[in-house]
Parts: sequence; structure tokens; C-alpha cells
Amino acid sequence: MKSPRRPTLAALFFLFLVASSQSLDLNRRGKHKIDGPIKTLVVIVMENRSFDHVLGWLKSTRPDIDGLTGQESNPLNVSDPGSPSVRVADDAVFVDWDPGHSFQAIREQIFGSEDSSADPNMKGFAQQAEGMEEGKSKTVMSGFKPRLLPAYTALANEFAVIDRWFASVPASTQPNRFYVHSATSHGATSNVRKDLVHGFPQKTIFDSLEESGLSFGIYYQNIPATMFFSSLRRLKHITKFHSYSLKFKLDAKLGKLPNYVVVEQRYFDVNVFPANDDHPSHDVAIGQRFVKEVYETLRASPQWKEMALLITYDEHGGFYDHVPTPVSHVPNPDGIVGPDPFYFHFDRLGVRVPTLLVSPWIDKGTGDDTHT
Ligand SMILES: *[C@@H]1O[C@H](CO)[C@@H](O)[C@H](O)[C@H]1NC(C)=O
Ligand SMILES: *[C@@H]1O[C@H](CO)[C@@H](O)[C@H](O)[C@H]1NC(C)=O
Repeated sequence: MKSPRRPTLAALFFLFLVASSQSLDLNRRGKHKIDGPIKTLVVIVMENRSFDHVLGWLKSTRPDIDGLTGQESNPLNVSDPGSPSVRVADDAVFVDWDPGHSFQAIREQIFGSEDSSADPNMKGFAQQAEGMEEGKSKTVMSGFKPRLLPAYTALANEFAVIDRWFASVPASTQPNRFYVHSATSHGATSNVRKDLVHGFPQKTIFDSLEESGLSFGIYYQNIPATMFFSSLRRLKHITKFHSYSLKFKLDAKLGKLPNYVVVEQRYFDVNVFPANDDHPSHDVAIGQRFVKEVYETLRASPQWKEMALLITYDEHGGFYDHVPTPVSHVPNPDGIVGPDPFYFHFDRLGVRVPTLLVSPWIDKGTGDDTHT
């Protein structure tokens, strides 16, 4: 006969459900107390755009921002002093074509050649694009008129624009997404499907939050890219993943957003779950609507006074940016060297990306003066 004390499997499962459904509250009573006014940080990582492509032309009304004057240009052939050049323009429309942003492509964009010991003069974007497809230099040298990106323009004017935020790795999407939440790509310098499926083992910000008794939540649309971290695949974390459409507005409204919130957009690069909208020319407008929806949801939340929203990009997607990439004093985070054939030491950054910081604690129209 069973001892009456011994809980049955069903009872254990019930307890697990109760505990997990209250995990946010349990976490709230955790060890670490946040002293500052901001208790919740919401992070959105958008895809594949440089700072100048998205925010560069804001400079005409915001001279404090290190954007475009209109004089910046790239030669079509960096090694030919007589080469014609392509000047920046403000006529970007959504780009159907995906500009180069592999490790090699980015190296050529930054240094103008394969020689990464040269000065990062940001002169190779036009040449690299032209090498991929004739006539594409124009595409990568164009940026958006601020009025085509109304959500960003409004947020930039009300809150803070950070014009010294660089992609962490001069490489493609996933290595940079890893850096956002774990400060390393664990050696990855490209998107390797097999490795992504296998999962990445490094310690993440999610682990640190948990250790400190703070809470986190991931609100995803088609798939959560954060699932590429092995540590988030543990069963106990299943309750940290929420459907964006079902839970985000609700949790915000109820004041139940956790301390660290990742809002994942609908990715375009997941073949299994294609984006609903087949027209890439709608991409920018979709992105603007999404950012606006997140902002308005947070603003209406009872937690708004204790929140900050960070909107950044994984990498520059092959688009021109005029600010030299930092190539010295960049520490390798964990001693890991990248794979063959580049053996990258993670000792220089990627190209500058658009970043906005939004919070009621930020003064209107704040710029970033770390570069002056
Ligand atoms: C670029 O210019 C150099 C020097 O004039 C020349 O050798 C090279 O063939 C040119 N490259 C292209 C792609 O035209
Ligand atoms: C961003 O770049 C990745 C490659 O790093 C590509 O697969 C993806 O389609 C791009 N996303 C968009 C929105 O262009």
C-alpha cells in the first residue's frame, strides 16, 4: 500500500503547474532588489539595417546626431584613385535584394579590401555591393527619409538616439543576436543551421537574472530565436515563453511584465514559418507598426514609470554607414577563436546600427555625446 504522505505523480504535476503559473510572483519576491527607478527593461532586436540607412537623414533636423550630411560617398573601385564614386542619397525604399553581410563582405565594406589591418575607412560598401550585382551600389548607399519611418522619427525626437552602438561581431544575424543576450557568440561568425539546431551552451543574461531572483519573459511571434540558447530549452523555462499576440498586451495591461522582457518580431529568415506578408516592399511599414504597437502598449501599462524600452538591430545588413568601426581595444569575451578559414579573434566590432532608448526617465530629444 502506498504511504499516504507520498505525493502521486498527478499531485506533483499539479504542484508544478501551480508553481510555474506563479513564477513571476515568486521571482518578484526574489533576492535581488533593484534600487534604480527602472525595474523592467524591454528589448527589441530588429534586423539588418545600418544607422545611416535608418536614422542618418535625421541629422537635417537634429544636428546633434552623428548622421549624414549628404556629402558622404564611396568609390566604385577602392584601389583605383580615378574611380567614379556613389554619394549617399535619401531615396531608400524597401530593398528586395539582401545586401552582403557575411564576414568577408563586411570586411570589404569596412576596410575596402581583405586587409583588416588597414584603417576602417568605411569605403568599401559600394564596391562590395557592385561585386555582388551590378547597379546595387546605389541601394546600399541610400537611406530613408525620416518621414517614411514615422515611429522612429517620433521616438528619436521624444527620447534618446544612441549613435555609437555597433554590432558586436562583423558578421551575420545570429552571432550578433547571441551577443545581445549572452555577450558572446561562443565562437560563431555565421548562421550555421546545424549549430543553431544543436543549441549554444554559453551562460546567458537569462541565467544571471534567474540567479539573482529576477524575472524574465520572451514574447515571440513565429519562433523565439532565443531558443538557440541551450539553457533556455530547459523544461522549467517553458513558462517564460509567451505568444506575443495572446499575452504581451495583457501582461502589460495587468502590470505583470517581468524584469527583462524580450519581444521577438516575426522573422523573415525562418523558412519553416514564412512571414505572412509575401511582399518584401511592406517590410519597413510592418516594422514601424510593430515598434509603435510595442511602445503604445508599454506606455499604457501601469508599469510604464518603471520601464525602459531598447530598440536596436542585430547588424547593419550590408548598408553603408560612415562611422569607422572600432578595431582596437575590443576584448574577446571568452577566449574562443572563430572557425576556419578566418580564425576571427572577436577583437573588432561590426558596423554601427540604429539604437533608440525610450523611457519616461529620458529627457526629450536626448543625443549621445560619448563620441565628442
Ligand atoms: C580596380 O582598380 C584597379 C586599379 O586600377 C584594377 O587593377 C582593378 O581591376 C579594378 N577592379 C575592378 C573590379 O574594376
Ligand atoms: C537578415 O540577414 C539574414 C542573414 O544574416 C537573412 O537570412 C535574413 O533574411 C535577413 N533579414 C531581413 C529582414 O532582410
